[in-house]
Order: sequence, then C-alpha cells, then structure tokens
Amino acid sequence: HTVEWDAEETGKSGYDHFMLKEIHEQPRALRQCLRGRVEEQTASVDIGDLADLAPTGVQFVACGTSYHAAMYGAQLFRDAGVPAQAFLASEYATSPPPVGNSLVVGISQSGETADTLSALREAESRGARTLTLTNTVGSTMDRECDHTLYIRSGPEIGVAASKTFAGQLTALNLFSMATAERNSTRRDVVPELRKLPGNVQKILDSSSAEAVADYYEDAESYFFIGRGYQYPVALEGALKLKEISYEHAEGFAAGELKHGPLALVDENTPVFAMAVGDDEKARKTLGNIKEVEARDAPVVAVTDGRNDAERYADHVLEIPETHPRAAAVLGNVQLQLVSYHIADQLGRSIDKPRNLAKSVTVE
Ligand code: G6P
Repeated sequence: HTVEWDAEETGKSGYDHFMLKEIHEQPRALRQCLRGRVEEQTASVDIGDLADLAPTGVQFVACGTSYHAAMYGAQLFRDAGVPAQAFLASEYATSPPPVGNSLVVGISQSGETADTLSALREAESRGARTLTLTNTVGSTMDRECDHTLYIRSGPEIGVAASKTFAGQLTALNLFSMATAERNSTRRDVVPELRKLPGNVQKILDSSSAEAVADYYEDAESYFFIGRGYQYPVALEGALKLKEISYEHAEGFAAGELKHGPLALVDENTPVFAMAVGDDEKARKTLGNIKEVEARDAPVVAVTDGRNDAERYADHVLEIPETHPRAAAVLGNVQLQLVSYHIADQLGRSIDKPRNLAKSVTVE
C-alpha cells in the first residue's frame, strides 16, 4: 500500500501552519543564535572580528518587523552611551541623514529587501561602513555589506516574521555587548540571554493566549502599548495582528497614548499592555493602564508579575521574571500566539496573508 505524502504538510511537522511551527521553533533558534557566542562565567561575548568595530555612532535601517528590531537595537546602543537611531529604510534612502563616522546597520531577515538595500547603498556611497544583521547566508546584503552578523534562526516560511524577530533581538544584544557595553551590564544580561530558550519554552507550554484570542476575536480594533524596550514589541504585536488577521491594530508608546490615541479607546478596543519590572518605567506604564481602564477598555497585561498590572487587567499573559531586554523577546511570544489564534479563529490565510510577500524586492 502507499502512504499519502505531501511535502508541504510534512514540512509543517504536524502544526496547522508554518507560522505556528516557527513560533514553536524559537527555543531552538535562540539556542543556535547563542551557541559559542556567550560565556556565562566571564560574561563575555564572542562575535569574532566584529567586536573590533566599536562604533561611535550607529544608524539602523530596516523595514517591517526588522524595523522594530532596529528600534530595539538603537536603544541598546543609546543605553550604552553610543548615539544610535533607527530609520525606516525607505525614508532613509529618500532623505539620508548625515552619516559622519556612524556604522550603518541594515537589519533584514531575507537580506534582499529593496528598500533596505537602497538605504545601505546610499550610506556606502557616502563613505559609511556597513553591516547587515541577517538570517540569509549569501544574500545580496551579506555579499555587499562590509560585515555580517548572522541571526541563525533557520529558514522561515511564514510570510509574517516570527522566530526571526526573536533572533534579531538576541543577536542585537550580542552585538551591543561585544562592541559597546560594559562588563557590569554584560553580567546582568548574559545569564538572562542564556535562559531565553528555556523561558520561551515555558511560555509555549503554558500560554493562555488562545483563551485570550477566543475572548477578543470580535473586537473592533486592538491597541498595544509599551515603554522602553517594550515599545518596539508593542509595535510588532500590532503589525503581526494586522498582517495575519486583517484586523485593525495599532501600537503606541505607552506615554503617548494620552496625546491623541486615547480618543479611540472605548469598551470595544482591547489594549494589550506590556507591563514588566517594578521600576519607575513600570510605574509609569501602570499609570497608562489605569488611563485606558478608566475609559472602560479591556486590558490584557503581558506581565512578569512584579508590578500591579494584574490588579487592573481583565486578562493576564504571564512571562517569567527576567531582564527587561529579555522580557521583550518573551512578551513578544505571547503576542505572537494571540495574533496567531485570532487569525486562526477568523480563518485567515496565516502563512500567506493577502497582499503581502515574504521578501519585497521592489522599492
Ligand atoms: C516584508 C515582509 C515583512 C518583513 C519585511 C522586511 O514586507 O512581509 O514580514 O518584516 O518585508 O523583511 P526583511 O527580510 O528585510 O527582514
């Protein structure tokens, strides 16, 4: 007798969609990203010759999900005292900023995105050194840039990026630690990076994201808020939901909500709030959560339980306690799962959303 065999179904290893498979591949992808690159005893980071780059300024260029990683990366460098900015690649190429001595870093999963390539070429023509942070060996960016740092996430088939965003954030930590950060910071961060694969697995094993998705799948619009390292995650959460569910979603800096977007908030607009830590930033975000709660908006808190967010939230998506930089990766996993399950319940074409392509090679 014969056994039915379908290459695509086999590729999904039992998951309904490549995206869900790739969300579940994150622990492995992160282990690969970290392999041989971090040493916990000495809190040292080894990314080879790239450590010598020691940039005095960094300009990140990227599109889509990679742009959110760029925002996170720029914050890492700024926190280390190095001037750094993230630019949307299409805008960078349209109106290039003075490049000075900056290193220009193109973040791109595919290494082929036309807008990002143009920005890198523009920077190169102005004499900048360039580096690409990519998943794709032999890609155009890999070949054209002066330097490459691979994220090592493995192939990603789903059009909407999932595991590669986690890989980008993790590799950016390696990059900033190796080139710009002090030993004291590395001592705080390296162990938390090492715990990331296990912590992501804990979330995958216990997430209540599907129940939250069930509860809110009829909402009119979805908002995501975060501050600091959680701000790009809020933007990414909204982008993911738009891409795969076709529902309206927006991400905001938590503190910016009151400067306009709050007018949109009512009982039909669930607000997903990234609430991690117990410092001043967390207290401010809590204040923002109270603002939306007072307008009767349902609140879903993505929290490590170290603040009062649960008291004001209608639903909670828990993440293990960790460094805020690692919490961004963990919180994002919860948001990926929420988006996935909302899109799945709505019967959307999750792996190939309408109008979108995995790699956009036109400007
Ligand atoms: C496309 C994809 C997005 C992706 C963006 C950047 O628009 O649909 O998911 O984030 O390109 O892709 P890159 O390969 O440069 O990271």
